[in-house]
Amino acid sequence: MTEDNGSIRTLSVDIGGSGVKAMVLDITGNPLTERARVDTPQPAKPEVVINAIAVLAAAQGEFHRVSVGFPGVVRCGVTETAVNLDRDWIGFDLQTALSNRLNKPVRVINDADMQGLGAIAGKGVELVITLGTGFGSALFVDGKLVPNMEMGHHPFRKGETYEEQLGRAELEKIGEKRWNRRLEKAIASLQRLFNYDCLYIGGGEAVKVNIQLPLNVKLIPNITGLLGGIALWRDEKKVKS
Ligand code: BGC
Repeated sequence: MTEDNGSIRTLSVDIGGSGVKAMVLDITGNPLTERARVDTPQPAKPEVVINAIAVLAAAQGEFHRVSVGFPGVVRCGVTETAVNLDRDWIGFDLQTALSNRLNKPVRVINDADMQGLGAIAGKGVELVITLGTGFGSALFVDGKLVPNMEMGHHPFRKGETYEEQLGRAELEKIGEKRWNRRLEKAIASLQRLFNYDCLYIGGGEAVKVNIQLPLNVKLIPNITGLLGGIALWRDEKKVKS
């Protein structure tokens, strides 16, 4: 049977270093279910994370396709890095494995890219950073994604990367005050490098940002990571079920 577009339901999944989240979106990207979350199983190997997604999916009711945000480099559905999960993800075909498991079409993209797709206006240079277990980044030019940008592992200051200086482990170590001061320095440095029209700051720890932000910097809610899931299917006209 071919569904008419209006009734297509997309299960959007956000795999994080500490939690796996899911909700169902309608065709315009509006939530149809409550966001559900489970702790990321440890060690976070592909099989157990896929099991966790299957458990979340079973509780979300009907859906026709699945979007996944993954915390690492993703190329053609294959995960190439996973610094905050497990080495077993390197070279793992998540798209095929999850599609086989859920028996639905699946598309996988980097988590910060998915968050960005849910946040951007689609004009000019828009940069997205996410503050969570890791440090995510996504760059868009007139709404088009520049893929595979991994700023988190790029040097920032004192011989350390953005992720080493601003990731959750460091936040817990140095406290919110110093972390916020560092973030201020990071924003200034990113503005000089990208001259973005807008910088969006998301991720689970964005709620701890308490500095005065420049006018072209916006905080976005963590749920944006799931809302961006609809954009992965923009080129799709019909879905068979
Ligand atoms: C990964 C990125 C990811 C970010 C946030 C980093 O460690 O390399 O791909 O977007 O964490 O999860």
